[in-house]
Amino acid sequence: MTQPAVLILLGPPGAGKGTQARMLEEDFGLVQLSTGDLLRAAVAAGTEAGKKAKAVMEAGALVSDEIVLAILKDRMAEPDVAKGIILDGFPRTDGQAAALDGLLAQAGQRVNAAISMDVDDEAMVGRVSGRYTCAGCGEGYHDEFKQPDKAGACDKCGGTVFKRRADDNAETVRERLKAYHAQTAPLITYYEAKGVLQRVDGMASIPAIRSALADIVGKITA
Ligand code: AP5
Repeated sequence: MTQPAVLILLGPPGAGKGTQARMLEEDFGLVQLSTGDLLRAAVAAGTEAGKKAKAVMEAGALVSDEIVLAILKDRMAEPDVAKGIILDGFPRTDGQAAALDGLLAQAGQRVNAAISMDVDDEAMVGRVSGRYTCAGCGEGYHDEFKQPDKAGACDKCGGTVFKRRADDNAETVRERLKAYHAQTAPLITYYEAKGVLQRVDGMASIPAIRSALADIVGKITA
């Protein structure tokens, strides 16, 4: 394809968006753009946007479109996005979806696929509560479902320090699930109407989902 691919991973907290986006980076040379990661970086850096976002994120609600769009636009202005992007956790509201369409249209681009990762809510509470990441490279793990090959050392970078997110507790996950169903799930219909919706079974194993996504993305990037 001539224009860089634009893919969206849609799904509730714990659906596996981040896990699979990182694999798509490896498999297809695309760039993962996670608004959650960008917001957490803003919180850690203590920027004005980060200060406003912190309490909202800890409560499991959605950060304002204004803040999220400003952060995303800055990131999309960086040169590496020319390789094609996987949007992870964005868009999450009607306003964000419309703004994305406008931003892409200016560059002569469009959304090539919005992939819904279909999962059971209750299983997501267990997935998110058991999640941790390598503090060095960000590789994701899970207490039960994805442990490092060698206990205590990251498979990717060998780092030995791991961290857990402040919003990864059962109570906040339930709030995040509510926000997803109220504000983000309607986007499935939005992308279906545009003819770009694809679905994968997000309850399958991590390698099986990787393979299902590779089938979809391979056809788009060919
Ligand atoms: P964000 O960081 O985007 O979090 P999220 O959408 O809640 O998604 P998660 O990162 O929790 O889940 P994931 O789908 O990436 O799952 P993962 O692959 O890690 O957002 C956080 C907050 O920031 C929001 O609540 C909001 O406040 C704010 N925000 C972000 N974007 C925003 C926006 N656009 N607008 C407004 N506010 C925004 O997997 C989870 C665990 O399960 C891992 O341990 C993994 O190893 C394991 N796992 C993955 N796949 C499988 C599988 N198939 N089987 C078994 N285990 C699996």
